[in-house]
Parts: sequence; C-alpha cells; structure tokens
Amino acid sequence: MHRLILAAASVLCAGMSAAAPPAVAPILTTPEARDVHSYARPEVARVTHVALDLDADFTAHRMAGTATLDILAARGGNEIVLDDEDLEIQAITDARGRPLHWSLGQGDATHGRPLIVEIGAARRIVIRYRSAPEAAALQWLTPAQTVGRNHPYLLSQGESILNRSWIPTQDSPGIRQTWEARITVPAPLTAVMSGERLSPRGVPAGPGRRAFRFRMTHPVAPYLIAIAVGDIAFRALGPRTGVWTEPAMLDRAASELRDTEAMVAAAERLYGPYRWGRYDMIVLPPSFPYGGMENPTLTFLTPTVIAGDRSLVSVIAHELSHSWSGNLVTNAVWSDSWLNEGFTTYAENRVMELVYGPHRASQEAALSWDDMQAALRQLGPTSPATALHHDFDDPDGTNSGIIYDKGAIFLRTIEHIVGRPRWDAYLRSYFDRHAFQPMTSAGFLADLRANLIRGDRALEDRLQLDRWVYQPGVPDNAARPDPAAFAEVDAAVRTFDAGGPADGAAFARWNWAERVRFLKGIAQRQSQARLAELDRAFRLADSGNSEVLFAWLRLALANRYEPAVPAAERFLQAMGRMRFVVPIFQALVAQGDWGLPIAQRIYAETRAGYHSVTRDRVDRLLQRH
Ligand code: BES
Ligand code: ZN
Repeated sequence: MHRLILAAASVLCAGMSAAAPPAVAPILTTPEARDVHSYARPEVARVTHVALDLDADFTAHRMAGTATLDILAARGGNEIVLDDEDLEIQAITDARGRPLHWSLGQGDATHGRPLIVEIGAARRIVIRYRSAPEAAALQWLTPAQTVGRNHPYLLSQGESILNRSWIPTQDSPGIRQTWEARITVPAPLTAVMSGERLSPRGVPAGPGRRAFRFRMTHPVAPYLIAIAVGDIAFRALGPRTGVWTEPAMLDRAASELRDTEAMVAAAERLYGPYRWGRYDMIVLPPSFPYGGMENPTLTFLTPTVIAGDRSLVSVIAHELSHSWSGNLVTNAVWSDSWLNEGFTTYAENRVMELVYGPHRASQEAALSWDDMQAALRQLGPTSPATALHHDFDDPDGTNSGIIYDKGAIFLRTIEHIVGRPRWDAYLRSYFDRHAFQPMTSAGFLADLRANLIRGDRALEDRLQLDRWVYQPGVPDNAARPDPAAFAEVDAAVRTFDAGGPADGAAFARWNWAERVRFLKGIAQRQSQARLAELDRAFRLADSGNSEVLFAWLRLALANRYEPAVPAAERFLQAMGRMRFVVPIFQALVAQGDWGLPIAQRIYAETRAGYHSVTRDRVDRLLQRH
C-alpha cells in the first residue's frame, strides 16, 4: 500500500516534555483513506503531538488553557488545517510567543469548522482557547446526577468526531498523535485520562486546586483522548487492572469486574501482548452515552453493566478487545468503522469463550446473529447501508447490526472456512504488522490476500471477500450460529406462540441471554392480556438486568401496553445510554397518537440529563413529528 511519511527527520519536533520523543505514525494517502469528516489536510501539514494544559472550570463549564501542537509539514507547507467546533480561540502563537495569523473557514453543523493557522516556518504552535459550555464531547454533571450527590462531575466522549469541541487538533482517526496533559481541577476532585497517570494523587496547583498529569507515548487516533473528573476512587483488581468509580459504587464495581485480569490474559493468548501498560476501567455516572468506550488504558463504562451477577461483562471483553482492533489497528476513516467494531465484536466473543466457556459464547454469538438479521429487515437486504464499507453523513448514526454483527460474522465465516488455527495465527500477525497504524477495508483485504490466501484461487472463491465488504446483504457462505445454543428457550417460544402459558419457573432459571432470546423470539404482536401474563409471570417491570428490561420495554411499548409506561419512564430517567434510550423513544414514537405524547412528556423531563450525542439523536427523532 502506498504510504507517505511526511517530511524529513530534521523537521520532526521533539516532544514538549522530556518524555519519550513522539513516534510519528504513517498516514495513508490512498483515495479510500480520505477522511470526509475532518477538514485536515495532513499531506500538507499534520499534528504529531498534542500537549494540553487546561483548567477544568466547573462554574463556567469550560476547559480553558493551552494546546501546544507539534507539526510535521511538507516542503513549502506553510499552513495547517485543524478541526474546531465552537472553540473560543484567544490567541495562536509560535513556540516563542509570536502571534500567528489564523482564520475559521466555512463549516457545517455536524463537523464544525476548519481552523486554518498560517504557521510559516513554525513547527510548534500554542493555541490559547477555551471550550464552549455546550461542547459536544463534554458533559458537565451536577452533583444530583452522580451517585454520591455531593460533587459535580465531568466526562468526555470523543468518538467519533466530538473531540474537536474541546481539543483543537486534527480530529481524524487516520492522523495518530502522541499526547500529554496537565489538568487542574477543584481540590476535592480527581482527574483521570486515557493515558499513563504521572501524578496519581495530584499536586497542589494554586488556591483550592490540584493538577494531574498524563501522557500517551504511543501515537493514537485523537478520538481516543478522554477525561473524567469527579469524586472517584480506585480499587486494584489485578497486577495491571483496576477500577475507578464513585466511592459508593466501588464495592459493586470491583465485584462485577473481578474477571478482568483473566480477560486480559485471554485476549493476549489470542492476539499477542497487551501493549498499553495498564488496563483500568471507570464506571461513570448513568448519563454516559455508551455501554463502554475503549479509551486506551482506561475503558469508560456505563453503570448499566453493573448487573450484580457479572452477566453483562461481555462489554468488558469488547472494550478490552479494542486494545487490538481499534486502538492498535485503527479505521483510517469512519466509513470503515466495521474494522474497529466488527473485528472487536468477533474478538469479544473469542475472549468470552476462553473465560466463560463455549456455551455462553455461542449464546451471545447467536444473539449477535439475530441483531444482524434485525438490521437487514429494518434496512432492507439490498440497502447500501447493509454493506460493511459504506458512507454516511453522520459517523455516529451507523447501524450496529451491520458494522458490529455482520462484521463479526464475516470474520467468523473466514475462521470456519480456513480453520481456527490458521485464522488465529493470521489475525495475530495482522495486528503485529499494522500496530499503531491506520487501516482501510482495501488494506485489510490486500493483507488477507497477501498473507492468508496467497493465491489459492479456490479459497478466494469460497470466501467471497468483496461481496462481504462492499455489497449489501449477507453472502450465502455466512457462518451460522449454533442452532442448539438456545434449544430450550426456542422450544418455549414455540409453546408460547402456540397459545401456551408463560412459564415463570423456566424464565426464573434462564440467564439474561435466554430471557432476551425469548422476549425477542416470540411474536412481536401481542394482546394486552398476553403481555399482562408475561409481565406477571416473569416479573418483568422490576427486572434488574438492563438488557432484559430493555427487551421487555421495546416489546411492551410496541404493543401500547400501558402498565409498562412507568417502568419505561424510570429507565429513561435513570440512564442516558444511547443504545437503550433511542430505541425506546423510537418504539414510543412509532405508536403515533398513543406513544408520541408519552415520549414528549418523558423527554421533557429527561433531556437535560443526557449527553449531547444522546440528546441530538432523540431531538431529531422527536422533531420529525
Ligand atoms: N467504540 C464503541 C462506542 C462508540 C461507537 C462510540 C461509535 C461512538 C461511536 C464501543 O466500543 C461500543 O461498541 N460500545 C457498545 C458496547 C459493546 C459491548 C457493543 C455500546 O455502547 O453499547
Ligand atoms: Zn466497540
């Protein structure tokens, strides 16, 4: 593949601190690696290192201070284009403090605006700025939105293109950057970031404030820079694993996550050494918009995974697996995000198999197959959006049934065709060959052909690689899930659909996956009487497992089952996880005259508590009506 490493070593600036010099990762210059979601023109000038020195201002809801960028520029490259969403720029200077000219170009609501800096010969620039109070990546929580209720909280979510709202850099996953940060916070609070912690307890930094320092010496995609600040405490789980959360959650979180060290060991057996040092997690307040986010060294987690019985720890297997697929080898552009999420969904299931055994893994894989089928039904099997590689206007609006589940099933299909030992060896070598580099669909297929297929025409024909990646629908060679994974549940589904009673004793015995399989497997049109029977027999309204409750609420609301409305309202008030919140509002909105007023009433109460990504999605959903 054609690569361009910009400029000679002579223009390579040293890192700002005495820390390791920035390792400059190559960028891809092939046409399919052009990122339409960033204004950056890395072939002219690119950021190699970001040094943040920011105060977290909990009164003004701003991050304020400086970002110092190290730049690598092509010969004659005398301007650099950064991504900027609503930043308030006060000044931009070179390293000696001499002002540089800068301007903002034309942008749009999704992408922000290009920030063009005339760097001349400067290869280090200092941007003095502050983020807007409404910065899309940041959520400033009131004490009431935390578990402890005594202190405010700050959390960030960078993926996909939100970090440009608090970090002025080239916000493109193909432009890897090392970074460091010094963050000051009000004294009782602790800051954590997605990198090595250099001052774990913080140091005094002026009246009533403390400073925390971090660094990331591996070049990473900028969406992986993340921060959380709050009244948080740490508990070690193993030699290189641990969990942060509010003190009141610490016991529950540590117990739920106690298998994490074993998961890291399992992932290493599959994909080679874990290269990021520590693997810690932070269990965030409930408004966190995702189930998990794979921020390097520090996975961010929704508290909805803390089910009490370790039933939902596949989320950990998932975020951990991103340490290889996503963080080590990274989609160069968002239209290839299946390279992050599909690979990771596949690896997640392999880790689950090693740690919890093949039965549990086969059940979770069968649910993933069902999710793919649901996406195909929803989008239509010939829709271009069902291709793994596809373009979209908003990179956060993709359908997970395709990029996660179809992506994983594609890799499972290759595994079945070439055999596990050969496929496992290949995948491990793929991560090694492309470590700390961007990747495209074309690049992956080329690597597969060069290192696995090696000219075997019969194998090439059996795999149907291009159909999987570029065509809609699912090729007929797809590896199917184990039909026995849910044998008992599927029999119960048939009994219920034939008019039989809801078997409360069986349901009580089932694990979460079996319960979800049942609720999604039965006919989705149900009478009020049958829903009441399920509700009673299975005690669904007080289900403590978020996945089971979610499956029940979707079924109940799609059938206008009024008694489920209070439980739905409580659920929507209790957390802001997009994967739960959006489909529940969707189910209500789909019920027009019955559901729309309920959705509007609930959203009026819950909207302010959601992170901007969740809010934007629900806003759009409700505005259409
Ligand atoms: N990287 C994703 C979260 C993400 C995706 C953020 C796209 C922004 C844009 C993360 O790894 C993820 O997939 N989270 C899932 C959980 C997972 C177990 C399927 C989630 O949030 O539900
Ligand atoms: Zn993921």
